[in-house]
Amino acid sequence: MILVTGGAGYIGSHTLLSLADAGYESVTLDNLCYGHRAAVLKGHFVHADLADETALSHLFETFPIEAVIHFAAFCYVGESMEAPEKYFSNNLVNGLNLLNAMLNFGVDKIIFSSSCAVYGDPFEIPIPESHVKSPINPYGLSKHFFEEILASYEVAHGIKHVSLRYFNAAGADPQGRIGESHEPETHLIPLVLQTALGLRPEIQIFGTDYSTADGTCIRDYIHVCDLANAHVSALSYLLSGGQSTSLNLGTGKGHTVREVFEHCQQICQLPIPYREVGPRPGDPPELVASGDKAEEILNWSPHYTLTEIISTAWNWHQNQKF
Ligand SMILES: NC(=O)c1ccc[n+]([C@@H]2O[C@H](COP(=O)([O-])OP(=O)(O)OC[C@H]3O[C@@H](n4cnc5c(N)ncnc54)[C@H](O)[C@@H]3O)[C@@H](O)[C@H]2O)c1
Repeated sequence: MILVTGGAGYIGSHTLLSLADAGYESVTLDNLCYGHRAAVLKGHFVHADLADETALSHLFETFPIEAVIHFAAFCYVGESMEAPEKYFSNNLVNGLNLLNAMLNFGVDKIIFSSSCAVYGDPFEIPIPESHVKSPINPYGLSKHFFEEILASYEVAHGIKHVSLRYFNAAGADPQGRIGESHEPETHLIPLVLQTALGLRPEIQIFGTDYSTADGTCIRDYIHVCDLANAHVSALSYLLSGGQSTSLNLGTGKGHTVREVFEHCQQICQLPIPYREVGPRPGDPPELVASGDKAEEILNWSPHYTLTEIISTAWNWHQNQKF
């Protein structure tokens, strides 16, 4: 049985489907502060907060947990600048509760949702895992610190970990069962598609003067189902005795904001009002993953193209269920 914290969220809920397809049983722990009960289509569900040590112990007593996939966290960069305490408390202190429960119940394998935010403003593109870690906001710091905590827990207690540093997750289940439903939404593709549907008056393009081909930021968009499958690969890697490691999960290909916008327009065939505004502080011009290490260690590589990312997301947003 695999414990999935934050399994009612966007990436967690897609991972539950991949786990079930691969024959794993799962139990989700989620407090539903951002997640959706309706997104949990597979496995058991426990409505609880990671801060609740009694509920955590009860879960470990009830289910024979072999390994943990830890998605639960707060993930709004802007909010983390205004309320860092919220981020350190949920992403670190509550994460420690989880690690301590694992120790108490003899569970020694964890896959952790890290982020390309650990690299800050990178000086090398594509970014290798060995790149210096210098996060530029409390959200990125919380991810970097938790990776370091995992390293200490391995030395002291033998807990093995794989930290997966996602780049920009996007897209939806190709069967349209689940998809991205964040409130507030801050990610480019859902914002553009919601604007196409008339749910937002316009989309803002932040910064048109970067030193990129068309002046807008470059990001590496990875399909959520490719991410989900990488978790299953990381899990079988750890269960078969793999060593702790940190891996980038991206496609190795960058797309500018304008390219993404134009792709969306082609797929939706609808007018999408937009406005060009100044750059957001702390937005690096380019974030693109080097994916060599994940391919080598997990024998995993992404399959979905940008067009497939946008069309599965478009299908979801037109028929959104939650
Ligand atoms: N979405 C991305 O592009 C992206 C990129 C890099 C890293 N990440 C990381 O991946 C993970 C999942 O991201 P997501 O986009 O699916 O986010 P999400 O907000 O959709 O999912 C997070 C889930 O965790 C739950 N949760 C939060 N705090 C909790 C707590 N204390 N106790 C129990 N449940 C709690 C929420 O209710 C939610 O269901 C996060 O750790 C995030 O930092 C996401």
